[in-house]
Amino acid sequence: MTEPAITARGLRKSYPGKNGDKIVLDGVDLTVPAGTIFALLGPNGAGKTTTVQILSTLIPADAGTVRIAGHDLARAPDEVRGAIGVTGQYSAVDKLLTGRENLLLMADLHHLPRKQGKRTADALLERFDLVEAAGRPASTYSGGMRRRLDLAMTLVGDPRVIFLDEPTTGLDPRSRRTMWQIVRDLVATGVTIFLTTQYLEEADQLADRIALLDHGRLIAEGTADELKRLIPGGHVTLTFADADRLGAAHRIVGTGAADPQALTLQVPGDGGADALRDLLVALDEHAVAVAGVAVHTPDLDDVFLTLTGQTKENAR
Ligand SMILES: Nc1ncnc2c1ncn2[C@@H]1O[C@H](COP(=O)(O)OP(=O)(O)OP(=O)(O)O)[C@@H](O)[C@H]1O
Ligand SMILES: [Mg+2]
Repeated sequence: MTEPAITARGLRKSYPGKNGDKIVLDGVDLTVPAGTIFALLGPNGAGKTTTVQILSTLIPADAGTVRIAGHDLARAPDEVRGAIGVTGQYSAVDKLLTGRENLLLMADLHHLPRKQGKRTADALLERFDLVEAAGRPASTYSGGMRRRLDLAMTLVGDPRVIFLDEPTTGLDPRSRRTMWQIVRDLVATGVTIFLTTQYLEEADQLADRIALLDHGRLIAEGTADELKRLIPGGHVTLTFADADRLGAAHRIVGTGAADPQALTLQVPGDGGADALRDLLVALDEHAVAVAGVAVHTPDLDDVFLTLTGQTKENAR
């Protein structure tokens, strides 16, 4: 067993406020296996950036332990810093410098020899489709280009663990997809990605595991499918060739809603494999042929809104 890339236990953080301390993180535990994408999902003010800042050694936690890339964050912060890269929620790009100059500056900060720095910069410009824009000041870049440059700058140090704080907020759907592909390509090279997002679809698309953060606590954690199964609303829809079979199936299953027009039987359930197999086996034992099966799991939106106690109307 290799050690997880990130382990955090009992993270706490509060800031002094007018009416006593404001608790921002209230005992957060996280485990991110190496070579995977982990998404921390939460609404504005949930504590996402605070978590990233603590894990990336930018601010201290009030309590808790963190291990990253095999190093204890409290005892070996420099080793942790050497292993990670951070792309913050707000850009680190210097707008007065060109894209290339920004990258060369990062190479200097990482003490890369001149030649190697130039090679690294050129390779990253190529990889992030910024060759044409490389000589222009970053102030002339679009939002998507600036995000790509930002991430390219993070990669100059060849980090094993990368933190991306809301990497696609404010990007149009096309730029968002480009960024997703970049993240997937990165993980394919073996790095570990810890990203925060407010977009459920983004977590669904990218993440191996997702944690929902709300008011400084993790209210759920799992794969997208596991999270979707946490809340009611899932069902299996069976389709039959005729009304006789539908009627027989309804009697055998003993539950659900039959639709004689559509010849479907909708059976409530979590959409899990076991329940589905039991259902099909029961019908098969009675020789009732099933023409079609569709599993409906609630989407992450439903999960998030249910678990945070929000309704779709007041959520955004
Ligand atoms: N330096 C600080 N001093 C006081 N309060 C702070 C400080 N930094 C963060 N907070 C508070 O902590 C809470 C969590 O902030 P954080 O930036 O971690 O949220 P977030 O999940 O990243 O939100 P967003 O989606 O808006 O980026 C907020 O209520 C914020 O006001
Ligand atoms: Mg934030």
